[in-house]
Amino acid sequence: MRSYTLIAPAKINLYLEIIGDRPDGYHELAMILQSISLADQIEIHAGSTDNLRVRCNHPQVPTDKSNLAYRAAELMAAEFPDAYAKYGGIDITITKRIPVAAGLAGGSTNAAAVLVGIDLLWNLGLTQSELEELGAILGSDVPFCVAGGTAIATGRGEQLSTLAGLNNIYIVLAKYRSLEVSTAWAYKAYRASFGSSYIKDKESLAARADAVHSGGMVKAILHQDVKEIAERLHNDLEKVVLPAYPQVMQLREIFASQENVLGTMMSGSGPSVFALCESKQQAEQVKQRVREAIPDEDLELFVTEFVTHGIKIAS
Ligand code: C5P
Repeated sequence: MRSYTLIAPAKINLYLEIIGDRPDGYHELAMILQSISLADQIEIHAGSTDNLRVRCNHPQVPTDKSNLAYRAAELMAAEFPDAYAKYGGIDITITKRIPVAAGLAGGSTNAAAVLVGIDLLWNLGLTQSELEELGAILGSDVPFCVAGGTAIATGRGEQLSTLAGLNNIYIVLAKYRSLEVSTAWAYKAYRASFGSSYIKDKESLAARADAVHSGGMVKAILHQDVKEIAERLHNDLEKVVLPAYPQVMQLREIFASQENVLGTMMSGSGPSVFALCESKQQAEQVKQRVREAIPDEDLELFVTEFVTHGIKIAS
């Protein structure tokens, strides 16, 4: 095959706990990540020249080395120079639907799709764990995006344990187009306010991460208990992002006051906020009511649902 078209789903965080700092400047995390049906489409073609080239329909998305998808292609070319020489360049076309800089892993899922796509295009036969290891070089969320579904992520976010897939759970997702939150800023602000409460020794860090494995959210997921999942939604980064971004706080409050919203939370470092609902119909009603409460055109609203897959070939 000379080209592949891939579906690259976004993710939300059902749980994000910051448990300590790390010598590499990152934070030690315990997260539960969930893929959703809101997805970008990535086309990967064997190039007409020996260059790497990225195109995107979204004006805010860079097409140079600052795009993680570009860096994913560059990484594959460096790791597999013989295949790169044999097959020539790579043309990547990104059709963006996932809001950018939103805490939804949009850039990470595009990068994961490029890894999977080039593996297919060059017949490399890489395993899932090999693809995840390459993903970890690019960013903390990239490994999860490869296989997606529902997973516990610890360490920097790259150590994954897959959980039973969740189906038939709907969310309303809201994001102000013009509002962006830098992930690096959010973690830095958290460190400045709460760094003194970080767990310091290695054993206690590991014990805390283990506790999340046997904790209430994981049990709720195993039991497919959506009400319990909604009650246990948690994101430490809300403590710094909500006070700094009143619009995000307001979204959170409007969602929380809606009938049929089981729970609401900011995703990742924000600024997108989601609300969990039991049915698509209820989610559509919540979306409509939030639209009436905030008629601002800058606010993007989506109804989307949990999915059990990460990167997949478009059918
Ligand atoms: O790994 P990634 O490039 O996605 O992370 C973006 C930024 O988020 C990092 O530069 C770092 O400042 C922060 N981060 C962190 N601890 C993590 C993950 C991300 O401090 N575990």
